Amino acid sequence: MRIGILGSGRMGAKLGTIWARAGHDVLFSYSRSPAKLRRLGNSGSPAQAAANAAAVLLAVHWSRVDDVLSQAGDLSGKTIVSCSLPMNADDTELVVAHTSSGAEELARKIPAAHIVSAFSTVPSEVLLAVFAARRRKNRPNVVYCGDEAKSKRVVARLIRDAGFDPLDCGPLRIARYIEPFTMLVGQLAYERPGGPELAYRFLRS
Ligand SMILES: NC(=O)c1ccc[n+]([C@@H]2O[C@H](COP(=O)([O-])OP(=O)(O)OC[C@H]3O[C@@H](n4cnc5c(N)ncnc54)[C@H](OP(=O)(O)O)[C@@H]3O)[C@@H](O)[C@H]2O)c1
Repeated sequence: MRIGILGSGRMGAKLGTIWARAGHDVLFSYSRSPAKLRRLGNSGSPAQAAANAAAVLLAVHWSRVDDVLSQAGDLSGKTIVSCSLPMNADDTELVVAHTSSGAEELARKIPAAHIVSAFSTVPSEVLLAVFAARRRKNRPNVVYCGDEAKSKRVVARLIRDAGFDPLDCGPLRIARYIEPFTMLVGQLAYERPGGPELAYRFLRS
């Protein structure tokens, strides 16, 4: 699958690298360092990354969303998988919550695109280890949600290809619950003992 990466930092660079290793055709974009983009693999402008992509990963700080979208061209009909969280400038608080979510705000910005919220609940530090262990029986989950069935199937495949077990949480508005959950994961990963190589799996008995 052709995948465009908008934002090639901790999340975008790792997920793009993993999907390329899984056999996808990945084009990285939107770093301040063209040399870094070239080191990652195929690279170009946000518009080039989005053009002809079956899925576009949005992985930028909330403050950069409008800028990268303005450079990405027409995203109508595209599957946009977003791990981007609506965080304030110093990444301490969600600036959208309870009655909406970053994912829903994103859908309002690009109503003709199909937004699927995924991967915001896993620290970037665990991604390569999960991919390396993808043959194990009980994979960690990645929760995801969205309103369009076909786009959700595309993203479920990308979650699987990254070594996780996709857990469908329903429509996009469920991002209101997913995004605060990321704050709990962040607390465990970065503020509690054990380090950030942390993933999760829900169990039903
Ligand atoms: N990191 C995590 O573990 C994690 C986990 C879950 C969700 N998230 C969310 O995922 C999104 C991406 O996070 P991230 O940690 O991958 O961010 P990041 O490492 O800061 O990467 C952001 C990307 O945007 C690029 N960018 C281009 N112009 C920029 C500008 N003027 N100012 C700042 N950045 C610019 C950065 O460029 P450079 O390459 O030049 O820096 C970088 O490639 C965020 O919304 C975050 O809340 C992150």
